Amino acid sequence: MTTLPILNQALIELGEQDFVNFADVACQLIGDAKNETELQALRVDLQGKKSPIAALSKQLGGLDADGKKVYGAYLHELRTRIGVAFDERKETLAAEALNAKLADEQVDISLPARGMTTGGLHPITHVTERMKQFFVQAGFCAVTGPEVESDYYNFEALNIPEHHPARAMHDTFYFDAHHLLRTHTSGVQIRTMQSSEPPLRIICPGRVYRCDSDQTHSPMFHQMEGLMISKSSNFAELKGVIHEFLNAFFGKEMTVRFRPSFFPFTEPSAEVDILSEHGDWLEVLGCGMVHPQVLRNCGINPDEHSGFAFGMGIERFAMLYYGVNDLRLFFQNDLRFLKQFA
Ligand code: DAH
Repeated sequence: MTTLPILNQALIELGEQDFVNFADVACQLIGDAKNETELQALRVDLQGKKSPIAALSKQLGGLDADGKKVYGAYLHELRTRIGVAFDERKETLAAEALNAKLADEQVDISLPARGMTTGGLHPITHVTERMKQFFVQAGFCAVTGPEVESDYYNFEALNIPEHHPARAMHDTFYFDAHHLLRTHTSGVQIRTMQSSEPPLRIICPGRVYRCDSDQTHSPMFHQMEGLMISKSSNFAELKGVIHEFLNAFFGKEMTVRFRPSFFPFTEPSAEVDILSEHGDWLEVLGCGMVHPQVLRNCGINPDEHSGFAFGMGIERFAMLYYGVNDLRLFFQNDLRFLKQFA
């Protein structure tokens, strides 16, 4: 093992060669330091307060001017060489450490990827958003209402009194005599008209429940209600909004038919059919002018304000839009089905 020459003589007993030899050995030791710890130990030995160089430097003061000049230069040269060696070694060690780290973290990019599974939105959510898009652009606000509803909001205020045959058509899930799972989103019309002043333009998407299950019915499904109240709303405006909506939703000019119908909360009422590619009329929604009695129930004077309303089944639109023939597929949580829409 290389060791430093001993430099404990008096300064003036040393010659230039002694300084050069010392520097050679010191630089070699520094260059051999394997890590920062070894380097630090050498720093103490070579540059510390108790190092031979420090001791010799102290003696400089006792020399005459010529001695100071000569030995000062030897010592300066020695310190400079050692300093440079430390800097170089430090840099080399850092570069080595970085290279080792990079080699360690190397990734084999030829390995097959692990893949990443991403979630997606449910087709009913996609379709709801598509429906909302049109109405929001037309100035309608999306509002919500409770799914557990009282018979007042679900029926009574919508002109469907107790014992009215329309109640039987709804296959309602009751909690008790006066509380139920809402069978449609129309109750939100009442809540909105009672809590806000006209003019009003709202849509209400949400879950509704009916005791019914087959290829085109599920006990839980979704509807989107719409309501517009102003001083001048009329049936022509209703027809325009619905036709524009259908064009926007299906992305093409639709052939649309308004067929007279009946709902207790609208007068006149209509059902809307679209003409399919196969030439069949398909029913897509119900609508009408809000019944004067419903306006009165909500504190709106039917002589001052009029309005129209519409309600549609979101699953029905989803089935038509995606070409799905069984509504129950939307709720069976079969990923093979759902992934097609994500
Ligand atoms: N509430 C009706 C239903 O569930 C749908 C409906 C029809 C809503 C006509 C309306 C409307 O607002 O004007 O069958």
